[in-house]
Amino acid sequence: MIRLSQVTLRRGAKVLLEAADLSVNPGEKVGLVGANGSGKSSLFALLRDELHADRGDVDYPARWRVAHVAQETPALARPALDYAVDGDTRLRRLEAELADAEAAHDGVRMGELHAALGDADAYTARSRAERLLAGLGFTHGQMDEPVASFSGGWRMRLNLAQTLMCPSDLLLLDEPTNHLDLDAILWVEEWLKRYPGTLIVVSHDRDFLDGVVDVVVHIDNRKLRRYGGNYSAFEAQRAAAVVLAQAQYEKQQRERAHLESFIDRFRAKATKARQAQSRMKMLARMEELAPLHVTAPFSFEFREPLKAPDPLLTLEDVDAGYRGGGGPDHVVVRGIRFSLRSGERYGLLGVNGAGKSTLIKTIAGELQPLAGRATFNRGLAVGYFAQHQVDMLRYDESPLWHLARLAPPDGKSVREQDLRSYLGSFNFPGDMATGPITNFSGGEKARLALALIVWQRPNLLLLDEPTNHLDLETREALTVALAQFEGTLVLVSHDRHLLRATTNEFLIVADGVLRPFEGDLDDYRDWLFRTKLGGGGEAGGPVAPREEAGAVPGREPAPAAPAAERRAEKRTQAEDRQRRSAARKPIESRVKRLEESMAKLTARRSALDAQLADPSAYAGEGRDALKALLVDQAYLVRELEELETEWLALQEELERLETAGQGDITAVTRRAR
Ligand SMILES: Nc1ncnc2c1ncn2[C@@H]1O[C@H](COP(=O)(O)OP(=O)(O)OP(=O)(O)O)[C@@H](O)[C@H]1O
Ligand SMILES: [Mg+2]
Repeated sequence: MIRLSQVTLRRGAKVLLEAADLSVNPGEKVGLVGANGSGKSSLFALLRDELHADRGDVDYPARWRVAHVAQETPALARPALDYAVDGDTRLRRLEAELADAEAAHDGVRMGELHAALGDADAYTARSRAERLLAGLGFTHGQMDEPVASFSGGWRMRLNLAQTLMCPSDLLLLDEPTNHLDLDAILWVEEWLKRYPGTLIVVSHDRDFLDGVVDVVVHIDNRKLRRYGGNYSAFEAQRAAAVVLAQAQYEKQQRERAHLESFIDRFRAKATKARQAQSRMKMLARMEELAPLHVTAPFSFEFREPLKAPDPLLTLEDVDAGYRGGGGPDHVVVRGIRFSLRSGERYGLLGVNGAGKSTLIKTIAGELQPLAGRATFNRGLAVGYFAQHQVDMLRYDESPLWHLARLAPPDGKSVREQDLRSYLGSFNFPGDMATGPITNFSGGEKARLALALIVWQRPNLLLLDEPTNHLDLETREALTVALAQFEGTLVLVSHDRHLLRATTNEFLIVADGVLRPFEGDLDDYRDWLFRTKLGGGGEAGGPVAPREEAGAVPGREPAPAAPAAERRAEKRTQAEDRQRRSAARKPIESRVKRLEESMAKLTARRSALDAQLADPSAYAGEGRDALKALLVDQAYLVRELEELETEWLALQEELERLETAGQGDITAVTRRAR
């Protein structure tokens, strides 16, 4: 049991928690949510004993083993797989002790240690680590590569694998999905559902939270509020609470107006002065209640872009990649012919590691082409948000410093006051704008990086995973701002909602080439599942690009194959079947989960309907509550609809997999004949 009682936590000038209480039962799966900078990561630091509460107590059983994800990855020569196994520290300790015992020829101790290693599942450790890494998107080849050879995002995955390897009673995960693509996210979801310990996970990803958690803890106004149920349930409950608060607020406004008019009328009259005074006191007291109501949501917009050339830039037969520095160059995407016309809005697709970021860097002019020619036309103003943009900020400097050192977009000098009010509009008020950013939360840094780009008035936006770290509200603000942006856009994002709302066309990087993807995101998901089936895409390729269509199974019957070939073929078929069933699994479990959620929601809805059918709900005092019930009902209906739509889509997906499988078999029998 974790218990926080009357905890007050300050960081710098900011009070994050004030007399907050919380209890979490063993085995519960908790989603910790709250706006950027509200104190989620700080709360983790508190639980890990890295921070101390200014007041109050934090308690959980002393024998609990706590696992969390390291934020740094040392640049080790150690193979990725060994690094993952290192996460099981008990195992590594036992192994070291065994080596000592062997060196000392201590037979008794060796026997004990072998037994202990058996208890620690030592003999399955490597295969468990392999499964973890495979689930997180590593190929078997990559598992043997040194840790140092992986890029930032992949190192975070390695750290996550280490954490999941570590046997623990309490698992603390701070935004684990940030560096993952969709299939890895689904895999982590499954893993976490089976995790037997107590889990607290911070995430801004609603679908992910819904899949994993059964309790939501919201950092709200310096308190910890606990809600039973998943994230959607939390949203519904909170929406109802907001409506109630709004109703109370309105009621209070009416009372205030009444008091004010009383005061106005009687202040001047000596006989009534005392009464007026007491009313004034009352009014002052009320003011403390008022700010409870909903704050206006954060929003921003891109300014009208500077005039753009057309085309903005052209790549002719460009090979994008990295200079070998002595050795051969490493080409990631080859033969790119691409001309970016003004006003185009592309979503750039491709699995992790396919080369999206390399391509974007080349378009941004940050990476020189290895071959071919890149022409950037005069007047091009690029706003580039790199995948790890926040790392490029100077942590010892302030937001104001960052902004001031950018040349003013239109060449005119700008007053400091204007810079400050600009930062204010991005939710960096007074002190926050002038102090160093070193202690900013992840989301606050990401928001600053975004503000710096908006300031430059770009006519071409190149955004590589811009939503990592951003809370839901800021994400929504970005979506709206991008939808209204009048310039040209190339966007990489695993946020499907953002892609849908802001881009018109898709490009895909796969198998080392860039091409148009003539489908929508659902087609892309199909393609993902299918290439997983096809084993990395060499036969499949994206469905949509037409020239690939002929390359799928079911083509010309081949002459009867010699035995060795037939064996190889059988083996491929068996592998295919396995892959297919692996592809079905995440879908099936999602379907199951959806069905559970649907059942729960339907039950809740019947209960609500019954409440609403009760005449007393409509009488006098019940009115406020009624409003809340109605909102709840509306939410439930919407939510159910969403779930049903997804359920249907997944069913179709499963059917498609089924027929794809049969297609394979027919192709095979035809061949065998
Ligand atoms: N060492 C520090 N000194 C002063 N202030 C700090 C320090 N560390 C963090 N803060 C401030 O405390 C607040 C909470 O930070 P924290 O990282 O806990 O937020 P968070 O909820 O995890 O946010 P995000 O969603 O962006 O990750 C932030 O406003 C941050 O600027
Ligand atoms: Mg955080």
